[in-house]
Amino acid sequence: EFISEIKGISKLEESITNRLGIKKTIIIPSQLQSDTDFVNDMAKAAGRYFLSEIKGHKTIGITGGTTMYSFANCLPQSKKQSEVTIVPARGGLGEEVEIQANNIAAMISKKLNGNYSLLHVPDNIDKSIIESIISLPQVKSTVEAIDNIDMLIFGIGNAEDMAKRRKTSFEEFELIKKKGAVSEAFGHYFNIEGEQVHETSTIGIKLDKYKELKDIIGIAGGKRKAEAILSIARINSNLVLVTDESAAQYLLKLT
Ligand code: F6P
Repeated sequence: EFISEIKGISKLEESITNRLGIKKTIIIPSQLQSDTDFVNDMAKAAGRYFLSEIKGHKTIGITGGTTMYSFANCLPQSKKQSEVTIVPARGGLGEEVEIQANNIAAMISKKLNGNYSLLHVPDNIDKSIIESIISLPQVKSTVEAIDNIDMLIFGIGNAEDMAKRRKTSFEEFELIKKKGAVSEAFGHYFNIEGEQVHETSTIGIKLDKYKELKDIIGIAGGKRKAEAILSIARINSNLVLVTDESAAQYLLKLT
């Protein structure tokens, strides 16, 4: 029974990879487990894949959220030193401090015995102020590191869920909905076609940079995120998706 379960999962992984037209899919079987258990299982699987691919990478971007927090938490502690630098790909984004990208970058770099570079910028800053903040030395070096990211590991959110979690204003929330946003990742909102429809006003990875990346690992599971995953998969086909069976089954229906 266990073998057939594994065969079923690898078939499902293959179908999702083909339907979404992405590089690779890793699926965690949905057992009767709590939400936190499946997130931890995804995080562990993503960690194993990440460690198998880390060689040759110098600057790794990460984002915040509960899934990425679990990723950092589940990563095994390395005994060796690492030359790698971990950078938050985006500012705080209105998240609780524990699950902010800065904290997660520090956690991951400690696990790898690597370096980190933090981003100290407030959320929702006026466009005119962004320019002057970027020129501050401590911010500038991190912004340069973000431009040099050669790998990105990130969480994916359902657009409405994320707008609510960020306590977005009523006007902004209505705008995001009106523009048909279904997903949110690294501070950008996208429609089902994977077109950017809105961007959070803070400092961080640019969409063009994301589109050029060769190594990207997106971690997101649960049926509520299926549409969001589909939309993100359409932006850059180099995506390696780590998800769970329930999101994958729903993705089959959508594609
Ligand atoms: O706010 C950071 C972030 O990575 C978002 O870009 C993403 O939509 C969200 O967190 C995912 O959060 P979670 O893993 O908690 O669902």
